[in-house]
Amino acid sequence: MADKRINPSIQLAPSILAADFANLARDVKKVEQAGAEYLHIDVMDGQFVPNITIGPLVVQALRPHSKMIFDVHLMIVEPGKYVADFVQAGADLVTVHAEACSHLHRTVMQIKELGVQAGVSLNPATPLSALEHVLPLLDLVLLMTVNPGFGGQKLIPQVLPKIKKMRKIINQQELSTQIQVDGGISCENAGLVVAAGADILVAGSAIFDAGDIKGAVQKLRQAAMQRQ
Ligand code: DX5
Ligand code: ZN
Repeated sequence: MADKRINPSIQLAPSILAADFANLARDVKKVEQAGAEYLHIDVMDGQFVPNITIGPLVVQALRPHSKMIFDVHLMIVEPGKYVADFVQAGADLVTVHAEACSHLHRTVMQIKELGVQAGVSLNPATPLSALEHVLPLLDLVLLMTVNPGFGGQKLIPQVLPKIKKMRKIINQQELSTQIQVDGGISCENAGLVVAAGADILVAGSAIFDAGDIKGAVQKLRQAAMQRQ
């Protein structure tokens, strides 16, 4: 039954990829005032994914504007090369892709030794077994619900049983590792991913494309708490 529970402390992580880049600080303040716990920062290098986004300088520039947990999602090759730069810029949580690390354990330890939370992400087609030997070290597992690279895509429903399976493994091992989901999250599917076992919901377009950003955060939280 544990894998069917609705998490009462569901947390939201608005992704600034969908924010107004000419008014980032303003948009960050709006989601913070609406009660979002994390600020999700998508870093893309044009190699691991086709798109190029932002680097440590933007994280550093935003840091004085917010007390939210800065959640840096590195969609880059050889992320270990840049982890220290992002931590120095103000990241509280650094997530790397298992697919991008030749030595995943080493990169996870590198993040932890810098004194911040460590996350590992899996693309939709990557099996959970890729995490087996590092799972107890992780603060967070990020299960991609789209293929990374762009905002505004549709959630891939085949990931739902994967979330359930991950929840079961975490519960069986009595770990406190949190499950984050990212990609295509909306009011229509928020309840489903939470019912599957997600703790933290990333959302870009569902929040920043709404005219009323604050209202969108609140609506998404309500939807996440609805049993589906
Ligand atoms: C996808 C990114 C996501 C994306 C989410 O590669 O990692 O964080 O910005 O955006 P939406 O919610 O619009 O799918
Ligand atoms: Zn992301």
